[in-house]
Amino acid sequence: MKIAVFSTCKYDREFLEKYNTSHELVFFEEALSLQNVALTKDFNALCLFVNDCADADVIAKLEENGVRLILLRCAGFNNIDLESANEAGIKVLRVPAYSPEAVAEHAMAMILTLNRKTHKAYNRVREGNFSLEGLMGFNLHHCKVALIGTGNIGKAFYKILKGFGCKVMAFDPFPDQSLVEDGLIYGSLEEVVGGADIVSLHCPLVDDNHHMINSTTLKLFKSGAMLINTSRGGLIATKDVIEALKSGQLGYLGLDVYEQESQLFFQNLSEDVIQDDLISRLISFPNVLITSHQGFFTKEAMEQIANITFANADAFVKGENLDNEILS
Ligand code: NAI
Repeated sequence: MKIAVFSTCKYDREFLEKYNTSHELVFFEEALSLQNVALTKDFNALCLFVNDCADADVIAKLEENGVRLILLRCAGFNNIDLESANEAGIKVLRVPAYSPEAVAEHAMAMILTLNRKTHKAYNRVREGNFSLEGLMGFNLHHCKVALIGTGNIGKAFYKILKGFGCKVMAFDPFPDQSLVEDGLIYGSLEEVVGGADIVSLHCPLVDDNHHMINSTTLKLFKSGAMLINTSRGGLIATKDVIEALKSGQLGYLGLDVYEQESQLFFQNLSEDVIQDDLISRLISFPNVLITSHQGFFTKEAMEQIANITFANADAFVKGENLDNEILS
């Protein structure tokens, strides 16, 4: 099958070529959008990532161009208009889980960096500054953590937090019984957020929870709490979070995802003037850590993404059951 791969970076190409079963792959560096959708002409399938746009307008063009299959090389699918894809007869398959530990470990790395300020210590010591002023952290042992979402990643993160001796509570509309048996206490969003020193988001972005962290929910937070988002940028109202950081209501912020990340992430913009004033403001805070959507980025996860993507493509070609199809 002829597959157009969008948003290709060097490492995507390396892993996709290595694990390709039998398909003709054509790589495009740019993200799919209405402006470049003409590139999809003559392709049966597309392979897309988190910042490719397949909204209703793009899907209409894909249908005209004869595209029958979208292979997402990620778990989240908020960038795809599933209803339009369904109406156009375009199947959408994803990689539902690829090393959830990779993202969970990155969330813990963000917490440890924000708390113990190892990034600042590294730079200080390199300049011969051995002072500890401003580096004081807090013990994670016995600290209260709220998990929002306890699916694959939330569950992996729960295990890590338990190892650190944290007291964990969770909010998920579908509580996981095995975690309840393991001692995890579920509560409402208000209950779990209200008591927490650290709140970490591990739920998908859907219409209902867009900007779930906003000026109202931030008021429920313990003053000076830490917020970690490794899920999707749209879960957070960025302007409200900036106000909470300015007032001290939020004490620390760790973001691996950002609402307007498609304009920024996965690119080297170090020679450019950043036009996004919100991210510039966020970067200016001493208690904010931003990474550019790298939670998934481990060797093991990349191998799984490539393998499952081609297993999805092969199942489609052979007319087999599409276990990883996302239904609208
Ligand atoms: P999952 O589908 O296994 O689990 C999601 C959980 O969230 C489910 O238990 C579900 O019941 C729960 N949930 C749904 N709506 C909720 C709400 N409004 N409030 C609280 N919980 C809710 O998904 P998984 O694999 O754990 O991934 C979670 C998210 O992490 C993905 O949707 C994606 O956005 C993000 N992600 C980020 C990556 C990164 O590199 N930073 C990589 C992979 C995923």
